[in-house]
Amino acid sequence: MKFVWLDCDPGHDDATAIMLALHCPNIRLLGISTVHGNASAENTNNNAARCLYAFAAAEHIRICPGATKPLLRPERHDPEIHGADGLGGVEGLPPADSPEVQARLQGDEVTTEARTVRALEGMAQTIEQWWKRGCGYKMTVVSTGPMTNIALFVSAYPDLVQCIEEFVFMGGGVGVGNRSSCAEFNILCDPEAAQIVLNVPVKKVMIPLNVTHTAIVTQSIHRRLLNPNVSPSPDGTLPPAATPLRHMLSTLLNFFTESYKSTFGFMDGPPLHDALTIAYVAMPELFTCRRYRVDVELSGEYTAGETVVDVWNYRACDDSWGRNGKNCLVAESVDVEGFFKLFLECVERCDDV
Ligand code: BDR
Ligand code: CA
Repeated sequence: MKFVWLDCDPGHDDATAIMLALHCPNIRLLGISTVHGNASAENTNNNAARCLYAFAAAEHIRICPGATKPLLRPERHDPEIHGADGLGGVEGLPPADSPEVQARLQGDEVTTEARTVRALEGMAQTIEQWWKRGCGYKMTVVSTGPMTNIALFVSAYPDLVQCIEEFVFMGGGVGVGNRSSCAEFNILCDPEAAQIVLNVPVKKVMIPLNVTHTAIVTQSIHRRLLNPNVSPSPDGTLPPAATPLRHMLSTLLNFFTESYKSTFGFMDGPPLHDALTIAYVAMPELFTCRRYRVDVELSGEYTAGETVVDVWNYRACDDSWGRNGKNCLVAESVDVEGFFKLFLECVERCDDV
């Protein structure tokens, strides 16, 4: 069993990561913290609560609101990809002010100053609590947004770093970007935070764009999602959704499909970036990875936010996961069919709750 803390900025693909984290049989999701990113921190926090409700999460799973802005740089969001509130076009989610969502948020009015403290304390309390449970359970920390909360956490609680099994993040690329010529959105939002995290002496796993761009939700996957029991129609039209959950996920994918078509020219479907982090935690055997030194370019005129992956081994000086070593396992490929099989099984399990 893997004990997971998920730090996220939902976000269409973050929402699918939440669904997977809740319904992969060998994952126990202990809590969620939210961060600025795809939308404002307030929106991403509300969205996490909306998702927990829609994906039938147990009520004890806590949501901790986190940082509203990057460590040093101005805040940036991505309405072009995710809509103004971060989950544009998704039908069937309860609104943020509905009683069921407010119950998840415990009706909290959180001031901007108090938010980050909530995320850090939430992580710290949970990690400590599970570590002290006799057998020393270590936590897997997953990040699917800018790393502001995580960087603050490792700086504020250095002693708890030893209780982290591994840190798995969606971010960066090997020679490829998406929100600048060479930087990926999550890293670009808060490059300083990412560099702090990369230097922490804990095993890290990077799921870069090179891999996420292979996990495309094609029309055929979308059809299996809508109704696994209907065979493809000759003209390629999609069947009606078999359940309200499948309808919700289908509208999520429709919006994401259009964003990726209009912004990046992805004609076959959108990549499910963030869900791959949870798939890695649940089934690392689906991935091939290689260990490299990875740093973030912090000052380049054209390259700020680029993940500089040392494929020729120029920079690592020791075997550590920290400041001087090959600090990251970088995913190089994923078994795409295996990933979508897991994804669709989780949808089925979620439907059965
Ligand atoms: C990442 O940025 C966001 O658009 C997604 O949620 C994902 O985490 C992809 O670059
Ligand atoms: Ca994200």
